Amino acid sequence: MEFIHIGDTHFGPDEDLLIRGSNVCDRARQLVEEINSLSFVPDFVVHTGDVVNDPDTAAYELAAEALSALRMPVYYVTGNHDDVGMMEKALIFGPREDLLSDSKDRLCYQLTGGLENEAELFVLDGKVPPEEGPHGHLSDRQMDAVLSAITGEKPVAVFIHYPLTPIGSQWIDQHLLVTNGAEFQDQLATKAGENLRGIFSGHLHRGLQLYRHGVLQSGVSSPACEFTAGPEDDNCDFLAGGAIPFHHVTLTKDATMVKAYSIPFRDPR
Ligand SMILES: [Fe+2]
Repeated sequence: MEFIHIGDTHFGPDEDLLIRGSNVCDRARQLVEEINSLSFVPDFVVHTGDVVNDPDTAAYELAAEALSALRMPVYYVTGNHDDVGMMEKALIFGPREDLLSDSKDRLCYQLTGGLENEAELFVLDGKVPPEEGPHGHLSDRQMDAVLSAITGEKPVAVFIHYPLTPIGSQWIDQHLLVTNGAEFQDQLATKAGENLRGIFSGHLHRGLQLYRHGVLQSGVSSPACEFTAGPEDDNCDFLAGGAIPFHHVTLTKDATMVKAYSIPFRDPR
């Protein structure tokens, strides 16, 4: 199974939104072109959240128009900048099975359409009310729903906007993680055992490879702008104008392979 991991596109309501001088729409459009130009067609693309910068209809329509050019199914995860109702209305998702069918304001689902025959792949929604902060939290119902869907017989991977456990950067570790992420990771590892192939996230606007208790957490950076993540930082500073990042992930019966791409931005203007 081959998939592409992208995230944090931060589309604005029109094609002119700049974040620290970088045009986020131009950069996301190039990201789409780069994925479509690969020498193979991945099974799917997963976007680990912050599709838009501020949730409004125009931003999601622009994101939908740009991302619908991808030639493979696309799956979306809720970021702290996202709104589930607007995402469901504007974006086209690949085949999926909702795990919380009575909870329309949460994106918690299993990827299907045949993918489920090879691997058990889950999207979780860690968003908390914006006034509570940019960290994430997982409800017991979501954790139970995912854990009970794991058979233990196939590779398992989880997609969530927020990293689960500390990354060794003070501000990020205090403000950007899933507050009960360590607990969830331990439960996942208990249920999936050696089949747990990885936890894939965004949010940090910084590529991340982290192992905790032997479990991979792989984070992809943002095509819009990157953040600093120094050990003693007391905020995230912006690093605009960088390359276009995405990850090509291969899952096999016994391994996870993450190939990181970093493509120079070609300014079309
Ligand atoms: Fe973001």
